[in-house]
Amino acid sequence: MKNVLVIGSTGQIGSELTMKLRAHCSGNVVAGYIEGAAPTGVLLESGPAELCNVLDGQAIENIVRKYDIDTIYNLAALLSAVAERKPLLAWEIQINGLLNILEVAREHHAAVFTPSSIGSFGPDTPHVNTPQDTVQRPRSMYGCSKVATELLSDYYFHKYGVDTRSVRFPGLISNVTLPGGGTTDYAVEIFYAAVKGETFICPIAAGTFMDMMYMPDALRAAVEIMEADPSKLIHRNSFNIAAMSFDPEIIYHKIQEYYPDFRMTYDVDPVRQGIADSWPDNMDDTCARNEWGWHPEIGLDEMCEDMISSLKAKFHI
Ligand code: SER
Repeated sequence: MKNVLVIGSTGQIGSELTMKLRAHCSGNVVAGYIEGAAPTGVLLESGPAELCNVLDGQAIENIVRKYDIDTIYNLAALLSAVAERKPLLAWEIQINGLLNILEVAREHHAAVFTPSSIGSFGPDTPHVNTPQDTVQRPRSMYGCSKVATELLSDYYFHKYGVDTRSVRFPGLISNVTLPGGGTTDYAVEIFYAAVKGETFICPIAAGTFMDMMYMPDALRAAVEIMEADPSKLIHRNSFNIAAMSFDPEIIYHKIQEYYPDFRMTYDVDPVRQGIADSWPDNMDDTCARNEWGWHPEIGLDEMCEDMISSLKAKFHI
């Protein structure tokens, strides 16, 4: 990886991945953004930025030519709950956008990373130790688009040799940019409430386990998979990766170790609960470990400690 284009550079993952890649790569790391979501601050000042809507294939091609891009991180997506409200737009961005990127990558010999998710699984999938290769019959539009993303990415690899690789991200927990409209967002929002001294109203029911991961592990995975030795990859799109699994009660009680007066109540959102119930409790990431050496470094305790101290610093508390 030398010259990289990050599409969706101001989103939850992009805002941190762009900075990590700028520290890691010797060439240009271009922050691609859509109108109304231009980079600011250090993201703007530390490297080039270009307007880059995934629905505009010509714009993507112009950037790839201009900067001699060899790797594209495609982070443009509507998350699961918002995709249920806007299913056609989700398909447009997630699939037609991806096709634009894959076509440019085919022409210009660029590698492509498009994340998949725990959302690519469905109610018929084994929920405990979900295998790498198993039933994927999601019923959400987010899930449908993620399965199609995996298939299209593999298709371009097998048919055209485009170097597509990716991971199935768990719910990502971070303290820089908020996620927007996902089913796992509660696991981020609960920290903001605790640090600000607010009661948290949880939209996900007690006992609902989902895979979660702290952002530094997710960023490392995104870089390591693209730098993995291709001769060792049996799979490509996409690898299960896991770090921790918890339900709302576990994270609530963990936060109470820092804030004993912190309170959480429930107001379960049927849409997000339905989605969460269809997702794995925890994924088996053996293939990622064996094929490219994946291993998580941050568990629940370290994540909680770092989230709380980072948010306290962010809000000057
Ligand atoms: N975090 C995403 C969501 O909740 C899943 O990948 O939609």
